[in-house]
Amino acid sequence: MNIGIPREVQADEHRVAVVPSTLERLRKAGFDILVESGAGARAEAKDGKYVEMGATIVPDARSLFEGSDVLLKINPPTEGEIALLRPGQTLISFINPADDGNRVQAIAQTGASVLAMDQVPRISRAQKLDALSALANIAGYRAVIEAAHHFGRFFAGQMTAAGKVPPARILVIGGGVAGLAAITAARGLGAIVRAFDTRLAVKEQVESLGAEFLVLDFEESGEGDGGYAKVMSDAFLEAERKLFAEQAIDVDIIVTTANIPGREAPKLITSGMVESMREGSVIVDLAAERGGNCSLTQPGEVVVHHGVTIIGWTDLPGRMPELSSRLYGNALAAMIEELGGADDWNIDLDNEVIRGSLVAHGGEVTWPPPAPSEPTQEKNYAKDFGERPQAEKTETAEATTEAAKSSPVGLVLSLIAAAALTICIGLWAPADFTMHFTVFVLACFVGWQLVWNVTPALHTPLMSITNAVSGIIILGGLLHLSVDSTTAAVVLGALAVFFATINIAGGFLVTRRMLAMFRK
Ligand code: NAI
Repeated sequence: MNIGIPREVQADEHRVAVVPSTLERLRKAGFDILVESGAGARAEAKDGKYVEMGATIVPDARSLFEGSDVLLKINPPTEGEIALLRPGQTLISFINPADDGNRVQAIAQTGASVLAMDQVPRISRAQKLDALSALANIAGYRAVIEAAHHFGRFFAGQMTAAGKVPPARILVIGGGVAGLAAITAARGLGAIVRAFDTRLAVKEQVESLGAEFLVLDFEESGEGDGGYAKVMSDAFLEAERKLFAEQAIDVDIIVTTANIPGREAPKLITSGMVESMREGSVIVDLAAERGGNCSLTQPGEVVVHHGVTIIGWTDLPGRMPELSSRLYGNALAAMIEELGGADDWNIDLDNEVIRGSLVAHGGEVTWPPPAPSEPTQEKNYAKDFGERPQAEKTETAEATTEAAKSSPVGLVLSLIAAAALTICIGLWAPADFTMHFTVFVLACFVGWQLVWNVTPALHTPLMSITNAVSGIIILGGLLHLSVDSTTAAVVLGALAVFFATINIAGGFLVTRRMLAMFRK
């Protein structure tokens, strides 16, 4: 099978769907690669580099589309590109189906199968396919760099013989992926950072990055019902604007990322607030694409109002084209692997990741995916999950069906067998054994409850406790090895020492790896 990588036709698009270093992964998945001439030229990926990695360069889009079974793109296909699609082909790209129903219809009519990278369900299994988060992370970082470029001072405060420079004060509105990346970058440059989000769940994350979380004295949660992102009431937005009006007088830079997927961005910064900011201040509006959080934002432009620079770039990830293309290409490669690679290629409608992303298949529009039968637990979709909890709901529904399938007869039989075994032990086993056995059963139960009920994020502290327990087990095992003469006791003692050692060594290794992730 052939994968085709076309040149993105938009004049201001510098990215390419796949950079040369990712080709090896696609070739391993069994594909031959065709690249349109000049596709990566603006992302530090000249044709020669693709050829070095085993790709074939084709002169134009027409021959590329004709020769490819799978097409990998970034931007939704243009009319010209849609006209080149044919039945049996697969296109994987950003599609934004909610933005343009006619385009989705036109794509479906070509008979090609289309998977939208912007619709990948944000469930843990699909994290490596999450291109939106990868790009929002870059956008948040770049927003701070753009702000620094337009701001006339250091971010970090300085006290030198030449004079005193106060630190920059930055307000970040919206603590999603982009907002948190902006906080990290601004803190890294030494600024004082404050942040606000409608969801109090973000507070801890903001504080862990060294920023102050602003709390609004208003009884309304930003967590949506059933896990959906929530549009806040007008009264809440008004209270929020009051808070930002106070902040605007004090801060030098505002990075605003507040948005709810698929909606127009709420207007949070009024022209009055802009006018109250000090001259030389900067606003970076990441929600510009959806109208902007600031009423003066011009999407795609930089405007200066009363000495305040308002940046409305809608292509922040594209301003770091090599990195964006590389991370986006990795997500595409993960999608290709999810589809089974060239040998086991299968648009499996039972796979929740594939079904969630599928926009068109067999001549039909397949978006939005079918509504799940069961509601999920409330979850933080505003931040990490967009508006697409459906696939996760399917996951829950499937788990429920699985549980229903296992018959209760089996459970009753195993309970009866366990009770009979316990009675036999109680009647015939030596008193010593019964005592140890009781402790063993209780230990299993307590251990099971401990491990299963602990949030994965807390597994490291839990591991420290289990290390202490493992230490006691090793001592016990060694005692049996040195004192007991029966073979069974020696074997069991040796096994106990062996497994407890694995637990301790493994615990240290995992902890080391986790600590390494936080080291600079
Ligand atoms: P996200 O959905 O993870 O984060 C948005 C955050 O804003 C959420 O935490 C949400 O709770 C919060 N929020 C919503 N309404 C709010 C309100 N009224 N007040 C305060 N907070 C509110 O989205 P992500 O991935 O972090 O992206 C943020 C924004 O940046 C999105 O609008 C996205 O489209 C945009 N973006 C812009 C780019 C550009 O080049 N300009 C590139 C990438 C993303």
